[in-house]
Amino acid sequence: MVEKILKNIAIFASGKGTNFSAIARAIKKGKIKANLALVVCDNPQAGVIKRAKRYGVKVILVLREDFKTKQEFEAKIIQYLEENKIDLVVLAGFMRLLSKEFVKRFYGRIINIHPALLPSFKGTQGIKDAFDYGVKVTGVTVHFVDEKMDHGPIILQEIVKIKEEDNLKSLEAKIHKIEHKIYPEAIKLFLEGHLKIEGRRVKII
Ligand code: GAR
Repeated sequence: MVEKILKNIAIFASGKGTNFSAIARAIKKGKIKANLALVVCDNPQAGVIKRAKRYGVKVILVLREDFKTKQEFEAKIIQYLEENKIDLVVLAGFMRLLSKEFVKRFYGRIINIHPALLPSFKGTQGIKDAFDYGVKVTGVTVHFVDEKMDHGPIILQEIVKIKEEDNLKSLEAKIHKIEHKIYPEAIKLFLEGHLKIEGRRVKII
């Protein structure tokens, strides 16, 4: 029998890590067939570190201040990705813009999740910015990463309605629930070879 080789995923995270857990859970349950090879984290206080330990996933802590330049910082990360033969980089609350060179090297193999309907409300506070703006509809976007922040070709989007009775907390809860559903779905599509980038568009084939 031919052994099926699993693809290797690295999750980059700087924060709580709830998306990490949703993905790790989907892999554990066999909904996604992949090897969660490592977490790359740039924040020693990040909740994702404990979560990764709970799932037995290796954490690489790379602190920007330990490197003279962004290039050296990213070179270290690239070394880990290559050593672990990473096929897909999943940004899950990694609050750092990757360089043009990094993105070019991995283009088509890095995805990101954003807690708003891109191109609206880019940046680090997508949920709050949408709430404060007073929009009636917001949502979640999963996209391929390019050199601009929250910008590359869109893979999946799902809407979330903001009701009159919502407050920021209830909206955050609704957004995270959708994130935890659609990020594993997008990863599965990628790993099964269903995503084809055509310029700005992603065809699901
Ligand atoms: C998520 O809501 C993700 O969409 C957001 O960071 C959060 C990380 O949460 N990313 C961005 O805002 C990217 N611009 P988590 O650490 O609990 O997964």
